[in-house]
Parts: sequence; C-alpha cells; structure tokens
Amino acid sequence: MPDVRGRTIAVSGGATGFGRAIAGAFHATGAHVFAFDVREPELAALQASGIAARHVDLIDRAAARDWIARVEDEAGGPVDVLVNNAGGVAGQAYQAFDAVSDADWDTVLAINLGAAFALSQACMPGMVRAGRGAIVNIGSGASLRASMTGVQAYCAAKHALLGLTRQLAHELGPHGIRVNAVAPGFVVTGGATAHQWASYGEAGQQAVIERIALRRLGTPEDIAGVVLFLASDSAAFVNGEIIAVDGGR
Ligand SMILES: NC(=O)c1ccc[n+]([C@@H]2O[C@H](COP(=O)([O-])OP(=O)(O)OC[C@H]3O[C@@H](n4cnc5c(N)ncnc54)[C@H](O)[C@@H]3O)[C@@H](O)[C@H]2O)c1
Repeated sequence: MPDVRGRTIAVSGGATGFGRAIAGAFHATGAHVFAFDVREPELAALQASGIAARHVDLIDRAAARDWIARVEDEAGGPVDVLVNNAGGVAGQAYQAFDAVSDADWDTVLAINLGAAFALSQACMPGMVRAGRGAIVNIGSGASLRASMTGVQAYCAAKHALLGLTRQLAHELGPHGIRVNAVAPGFVVTGGATAHQWASYGEAGQQAVIERIALRRLGTPEDIAGVVLFLASDSAAFVNGEIIAVDGGR
C-alpha cells in the first residue's frame, strides 16, 4: 500500500461517496485526515471515525480558504495532500441547453471548478514553503468526453478541471508540487447516482456494464486506491496526468 503515514491530507466533500472512501483510505494508512462537507449526520459519523470533519459550504470560497488555514493551524504545518473531490451536478439532469439558467450554470461551475481553484490556491504557499505537495483533482469521464448526465455545465467544469490540473502541474512542478487527476467511470455512490442508475432500467444497466471491459461497475474504493497512489511517493514522478478509473471502455 502506498505510504502516506503522518502526512496532512485535506479532502473536500468527504462525507459520502468517493470523498468518504478517500478520507477512509488515507486514515487507514495513518495519515492525518481533514475533511469538510455540508451533510450534517454524515459529518458526525466521519468525525466519530477519527477524521477531523467540519461543515463548510464551498460555494463560499472565502470559507473554503479559511478551512485550509484552519487545517494548517491544527496540523502545525502545511497541507501535504489536497484532494479536490466535492462536486457533482447539484440535482440537475438532462436539461435542454437553451433552458439552463444562469444560477444552475454558476452552481455547477462553483462546486466543480471554483472550489478547486480556491482550495488549491490556499494550499499553495504552505506547499511552496515545504518544497513539496500533491494535489489530486477528481475529474470524470466528462473531463474527456460528453457527460452521461446531460449537464452541460458539469461537462464544461470537469474539462476545465483537467485544464487547471495541467496548468498547475506546469507552474507548481518547479516547487516540488505534483498535480494530477482521476477520471472515474460511473459509480453508484448514493442519492443522485442511485436515481440515475435506476432510471436506466434493467436493459439499460446491462448495456452500461457491457461497455465496461471488466464487466462491472466501479466502487468508491476503486477510486480511492488510485487517489492514494497519486498522492504518495509511489507516484513521485507522475505530474499533470489524468488516470481514467473506469474498468476500461
Ligand atoms: N459517482 C460517479 O459516478 C462519478 C463519476 C465521475 C466523477 N464523479 C465525481 O466524483 C466526485 C464525488 O462524487 P460522488 O459520486 O462521491 O458524489 P457524492 O454526492 O456522494 O459526493 C460529493 C460530496 O460533495 C459534497 N458537496 C457537494 N456540494 C458541496 C458544497 N457546496 N460544499 C461542501 N460539500 C459539498 C456532497 O455533500 C457530497 O458529500 C464529484 O466531484 C463527482 O463529480 C463521480
């Protein structure tokens, strides 16, 4: 298992789904894990499991930046690994492009892209001082091609997140900071994805699975394992990359 013992890990959207699995995987290796989210009961469960969990709505970029300062205070040093995980479609699906409101567009851009901007920027000075750091961005198949969920802003934001990954890898690499991304395939992680999966019906679900070379859906743990690898010294010379974690297409 990649070794991240003793490192300070900051995970956005850690209460459920991938974020929960990622926070848990780092915690299991002996890292100091900090996570935030907006889901209260799940945050309490996270805290009870030994992960420092806090309520932050990352639509508020100032609050997101403050959270990083707080993590650094509590950890007594810079963030070693930032995982920009929070995101999603904010309850939207299959909207005709000419019906998309400004508010819907802005929300999806804010949670998938604006938050990664603010959190990465807030971590940068500490990482630069330390001369090392790793940022892992949770992209999507929608970073590489059209989105299954028909949310234009999501596809645009996840493509842009890949652009941010490549640009920051180029700019922060000289400081020893690596920036990479993963592009998960479809994984049922709860409410929205469970609803999406159910909407396909049995034949649709079978068709989705048949398009996956490994003939199964992924799990949050499949995603967490690759994030852990990218964050660790096992990936010390991997920078500016996006790894598809989708079972092969
Ligand atoms: N599940 C999939 O099929 C899939 C596929 C590709 C990419 N992704 C991406 O992976 C990431 C995690 O997805 P997931 O499936 O685990 O979703 P999820 O909804 O289970 O997790 C996202 C987490 O982010 C949190 N979050 C959302 N908005 C927030 C806000 N404003 N402030 C603070 N926290 C907020 C949610 O509360 C939630 O806990 C997302 O970026 C998503 O776009 C998911």
